[in-house]
Amino acid sequence: MVTSLTRMDAQTLENDALVAVAAATSLDEVERVRVEYLGRKSALKLALREVRDRETGMTLNALRERLEAAVDAREEELRRVELDRRLTEDVVDVTLPGEERPLGTLHPTTLTRRIVEDAFLGLGYEVIDDREVETVHYNFDQLSFPPAHPSRSHRDTFFLDSERLLRTETSPSQIHVMEAKKPPIYMVSLGRVYRRDEVTATRFPIFHQFEGLAVDRHITLADLKGTLLHVMRALFGDERRVRFRTHFFPFTEPSIEPDVSCPICDMQGCRMCKYTGWIELGGAGMVDPQVFLNVGIDPEEWTGFAFGCGIERAAQLRHGISEIRPFWENDLRVLRQF
Ligand code: DAH
Repeated sequence: MVTSLTRMDAQTLENDALVAVAAATSLDEVERVRVEYLGRKSALKLALREVRDRETGMTLNALRERLEAAVDAREEELRRVELDRRLTEDVVDVTLPGEERPLGTLHPTTLTRRIVEDAFLGLGYEVIDDREVETVHYNFDQLSFPPAHPSRSHRDTFFLDSERLLRTETSPSQIHVMEAKKPPIYMVSLGRVYRRDEVTATRFPIFHQFEGLAVDRHITLADLKGTLLHVMRALFGDERRVRFRTHFFPFTEPSIEPDVSCPICDMQGCRMCKYTGWIELGGAGMVDPQVFLNVGIDPEEWTGFAFGCGIERAAQLRHGISEIRPFWENDLRVLRQF
């Protein structure tokens, strides 16, 4: 069977092909023409496969190249037409308002936490993020809680088993740090604590605390007071004052409760400070020598102070939020305000 194209056939083929190319008005049509005249089963390709003499080969290859160039040119032309059409039809009005993307804000607990962290970093303290699952040993024993202390009961504390529990305070961080390194120590530990409280306006079973510990030579209550004054001023403004009332904690001696002068009424008397001008903020004291002995630090050589304070409570005072619940409800109407 002779399938090679004669000179006449080749001329006809070229004419037909060029007419088809010119007639194609879409990219799909161009593609169809390409398959028909240049595809694997096209007359030209079949003829090329049958070629035996050099002259026919050169003629047919030249024809193939012309057809390919014509198809490519038409395709390019149609692409440009399509682009022009889109550029004129899909006009973008840059003056129309854009699509707004919702932008989040930091949670008031986070904002307050960062202020505390910055204040202590400025004093050269190490900032620690400690574990939330603790053991009886670290949460109570090492902090010298007496065996019958109510916090040790399942009624007050979330136990995972007889030994493990959700920490009730950030104070066990003191023990971990003192076991891990030698004095001098200046650290602040911030994070969640857990207590089996009913949800009320002022209580929530999860909240945050920041806990500070300083261990060095010749540390006194005056150092504690100055440190707390620094943090309270960072939180509530330069005018704040700090006072101490005596108290009791198992792991400090003496123990005190620090008050800050009321940032809401500036000591004029308001509901927040119960008309006393002062607001109670956490607990503090000088590290009990027994706690030093528990972790192998010599209380004759080293002294220290410690303090702990609720972060939500500080945030409430900063932003004038009267309840603790909104901190955990994730209501955007509330959170967007910060
Ligand atoms: N851990 C105590 C609480 O949650 C607060 C506290 C009191 C922390 C005295 C201290 C401290 O570091 O020295 O109520």
